[in-house]
Amino acid sequence: MTANTHSHPPENPFISEIARHLSKHAGLDEGAVRPLLEIPPRPEMGDYTLPCFTFKEQFKKPPVEIAKELEGAAPAGGLITDIKAHGPYLNFSVDTGRLARWVLESVYTGKDSYGHQSQGAGRTVVIDYSSPNIAKHLGVHHLRSAVIGNALYLMHEALGYRVIGINHLGDWGTQFGQLITAFRHWGSEQALQEDPIGALNGLYVRFHAEAEKDPSLEDQARAAFKALEQGDPDTRRLWEHFREVSLTEFNKVYGALGIKFDHYTGESFYNEMLEETVDGLKAAGLATISEEALVVDLEEYNMPPCLLKKRDEASLYATRDICAAEYRHKEYGFSRMLYVVGSEQKLHFRQLFKVLELMGKGWVKDCVHVDFGLIRFKHGRMSTREGKIILLEKVLSEAVTRATAIIEEKNPALKDKDRVARQVGIGAVIFADLSTRRTKDVLFDWDVVLNFEGETGPYIQYTHARLCSVTRKYGKPVGTDVDCGLLKEKDEYLLIRKLEQFPKAIESAARSCEPVILCNYLLELCGTFNRYYNHHRILGQEEALTGARILLSDSVRQVLRNGLELIGVQTPEEM
Ligand code: ARG
Repeated sequence: MTANTHSHPPENPFISEIARHLSKHAGLDEGAVRPLLEIPPRPEMGDYTLPCFTFKEQFKKPPVEIAKELEGAAPAGGLITDIKAHGPYLNFSVDTGRLARWVLESVYTGKDSYGHQSQGAGRTVVIDYSSPNIAKHLGVHHLRSAVIGNALYLMHEALGYRVIGINHLGDWGTQFGQLITAFRHWGSEQALQEDPIGALNGLYVRFHAEAEKDPSLEDQARAAFKALEQGDPDTRRLWEHFREVSLTEFNKVYGALGIKFDHYTGESFYNEMLEETVDGLKAAGLATISEEALVVDLEEYNMPPCLLKKRDEASLYATRDICAAEYRHKEYGFSRMLYVVGSEQKLHFRQLFKVLELMGKGWVKDCVHVDFGLIRFKHGRMSTREGKIILLEKVLSEAVTRATAIIEEKNPALKDKDRVARQVGIGAVIFADLSTRRTKDVLFDWDVVLNFEGETGPYIQYTHARLCSVTRKYGKPVGTDVDCGLLKEKDEYLLIRKLEQFPKAIESAARSCEPVILCNYLLELCGTFNRYYNHHRILGQEEALTGARILLSDSVRQVLRNGLELIGVQTPEEM
């Protein structure tokens, strides 16, 4: 939740100059021009381009003619070496030596915070992620949610937002009445110590089996939940115990993944506040009785009713979500709230947002259901059908075992092998998850995700480690006191432009809640670098050239590191 204090990166002087230039010579609004300037898809088209569509009204002409007119009106000069119209675009060439110097200096001075920005300063983003149900195993969808939520957390933080990460634990509801009843009949502390979640799961199963034969168990369970809701000390103690052993288990997985939360305010946290929420809904005339339950009717919006209270007065998942949203808005005053929850809950969030809208909560427009698809496993016992109950700890430990085997084979002399294997194995799992568009299903295939030459986390980590080794071999401090004009190769130019775009990649990944944008960015940066590295030598050139190239390669190293950190993947310096 650390509000971050990084200053805004220095303004791009080339963009500033182009905007000033167009304002001076052609009367365009500087502020309107700046955000429109893009890097053209091909270097032959110049270094920056201005799409002229936006100025149709102002010029009362088609964009193609606007571009022509601007080309004539604004002569090159200063940092701008050439201006050319190309269809509806106005293309600018700039002094590329100075462009390279500016970009590389920005990376060099920014170091670990290159890419960090301040547009989020003074604003808060709340992220609800992982949010598993206690007394059950973490599902694979809780892994996806944790990994995506963590990346969004880190990226928003880098943009200067205050971020509040919440694990909205499923720790309340009538099922806990069942669990408590089952534990009182058949549970044992010893079994709970040995395998907490296994034991609790077993109790659920047993409860349902026994309740078929003895329906009075259901009444006992209802009474137990009522006692829990009303704060009966004995019942409460038992429930707290279940919650605690569950959290200990969950934290093992979060710890392995390096994922943290600011709050574990789960569903139970809202127990005391629910009445007020329900009263508010009643007062607003939104709550009605249907089949003895209290609901918000949503027929008008083509949705089934949102259930608030059951016949027995017990509150429900949706009630607690309405209450939680109100609480979070009051407590944190967010400018955005992200619910990172699987696509199977689409309807729930549409209902939730509609109810909040009907309650007059204008801020509901800032709530987003960041949904995602399933993970399917290609191999063996980890098949699609069983996918839901795959034990996450098993996935993670298998990843580490496999990474260890690969490292044993590739680099048996590596020091600190265990640590690196953990970073690579876990990094592979995280990257595999994030490098697919969120809403698509992920097909998880060990041979693919751990391939050092594929589009994988280990590939990026490996490129990063190679770059660390280049810098180490250079043996001298890398500095900016070099002639960037020597970086004349096309791949050098492309690398510099890629580095320049890093801040933008973070911004657009965060804005669209699509970490895949940052993943693709990193893959492209690696691809460009590796192509360059295969054709050009960095070390052992004439001193001035090596000095310039090492600054470039060390900047690529820095950006790969910063980028991986922002998606929660660690960056070993050797592997
Ligand atoms: N506990 C739920 C589940 O495991 C997810 C909760 C998501 N967050 C929320 N605010 N509804 O399916």
